[in-house]
Amino acid sequence: MTSYGDDGFALFLRKAFIKAMGYSDDALDRPIVGITNTYSDYNPCHGNAPQLIEAVKRGVMLAGAMPMVFPTISIHESFAHPTSMFLRNLMAMDTEEMIRAQPMDAVVVIGGCDKTLPAQIMAAASVDLPTVVVPVGPMVVGHHRGEVLGACTDCRRLWSAHRAGEIDEVEIDTVNGRLAPSVGTCMVMGTASTMACITETLGLSLPMSASIPAPHAERVRLAEQSGKVAARLAVEGGPRPSELLTPAAFHNALVVMQAIGGSTNGIIHLTAIANRAGVRLELETLDAIGRDVPVLVDLKPSGAHYMEHFHHAGGVPKLLKQLGDLINLDAPTVSGGTLRQVVEAAEEVPGQDVIRPRSQPIKAQGSMVVLRGNLAPGGAVLKQAAASERLLQHTGRAVVFDSVADMAARIDDPDLDVTADDVLVLRNTGPKGAPGMPEAGYLPIPKKLGRQGVKDMVRISDARMSGTAFGTIVLHITPESAVGGPLALVESGDMIRLDVEGRRIDLLVAEDELARRRAALADVPEKPLPERGYARLFQQTVLQADEGCDFDFMVPR
Ligand code: FES
Ligand code: MG
Repeated sequence: MTSYGDDGFALFLRKAFIKAMGYSDDALDRPIVGITNTYSDYNPCHGNAPQLIEAVKRGVMLAGAMPMVFPTISIHESFAHPTSMFLRNLMAMDTEEMIRAQPMDAVVVIGGCDKTLPAQIMAAASVDLPTVVVPVGPMVVGHHRGEVLGACTDCRRLWSAHRAGEIDEVEIDTVNGRLAPSVGTCMVMGTASTMACITETLGLSLPMSASIPAPHAERVRLAEQSGKVAARLAVEGGPRPSELLTPAAFHNALVVMQAIGGSTNGIIHLTAIANRAGVRLELETLDAIGRDVPVLVDLKPSGAHYMEHFHHAGGVPKLLKQLGDLINLDAPTVSGGTLRQVVEAAEEVPGQDVIRPRSQPIKAQGSMVVLRGNLAPGGAVLKQAAASERLLQHTGRAVVFDSVADMAARIDDPDLDVTADDVLVLRNTGPKGAPGMPEAGYLPIPKKLGRQGVKDMVRISDARMSGTAFGTIVLHITPESAVGGPLALVESGDMIRLDVEGRRIDLLVAEDELARRRAALADVPEKPLPERGYARLFQQTVLQADEGCDFDFMVPR
């Protein structure tokens, strides 16, 4: 703790200042629970944060402790230039240092929009102060002309219909007001929902916290209860994140990620969180788990329903129950018990078909597979659940784009030499390349092929993809091209083979030719580092996707 002279004086001084807020000694001489405030006019996903903060404070006070709210960075997917991934580590650092800087005995972090829960949990794992996570919760669904709308799985589809003249100006304006009908996070199984389910599985948040819709009264009561739990942690000193974030907990999280058909972004975040906790997650473990774990949750974009339906079907506790012996039920939770108690309390919902039993899975195998090969020595990821069966074994000619800008400039060119059997290649879109690893991996189908009815092609890149997208898409190719990964060696016309069964992605070019290309690339001058600031720090220290894209100096040695 900072000291101005002797300890007694340090306390005297801090109390003198904080009393300017009108606090009494009775208030201040209690265990302190810090509460993060990530409300921002730029972050509609966190629009209910003020109400949740009030409820957490109430819970803390009902339990006899003292709540102290403090601000941290807030990140919304749509308002985070150049990418929200670029800012995730900044939020993690901010959150970590503000928890360390200010006196508190426990902390409640409130977040939810894609990168915020990962950032907050990375921070919590590093500080290792007792922490309760309160997700802001998913939006309720939208309705339009008898159709249910989801943010933002339906955004692109309806905009395309508008561009094609099927939806007029007036209707598209109406739709614009219905895609995100309430505060809260995207209500499909995108990154926000994936991370909320993982947070609950890791035992860092209370049961049902992933799925209660953001505007529901139940979520406010969950926040109040979370405040009570945090007050208890403040007195008892634990469990701390290090007691919850065990190898067994991460194993459970990987099982759940496969069973929910989770976002591929979840792998990067979970890897980063695990690294902070001193646990090394191997991509092969995710792949091995995927071979045993079926997809059980029927949610968009791979399935039919939305987060509120998942909630009314019993949420994560019910899913853990259906997963049975695939889950380690001895894993402890922040409430003081284990997942066994969570599963025992799971609600039975007669007739629900959102969370399937293992005897009737959506898919017999998990949603994500890990590929290696001469194109991805450090690994790559493919969301099998969202891919086309016929393309899972495919050899095709490469059509290469050197950057997002290059792709945008040429993909719809009527003269582009491309057929439906080709493999679209996008590079310089990794953690350092873009920078910030944009969600550009979902390359659009070239317009001239789209018009012929082509819906899917094999697409490969070092980029990420939104959890709300689908297609036969190889992502997170590691090492990325910007640091000399083999993706940099591909030329248009080369043959590329995708073999999902064999878990491989290969460039079918002779080794001596690759060596020649590698030597030629060595002569190309490196892109200069940004001159100053966070961009420079990011470029110098960000790790590759297989290591979670954290900064190298943030990972404990
Ligand atoms: Fe915030 Fe989708 S934009 S979760
Ligand atoms: Mg997203």
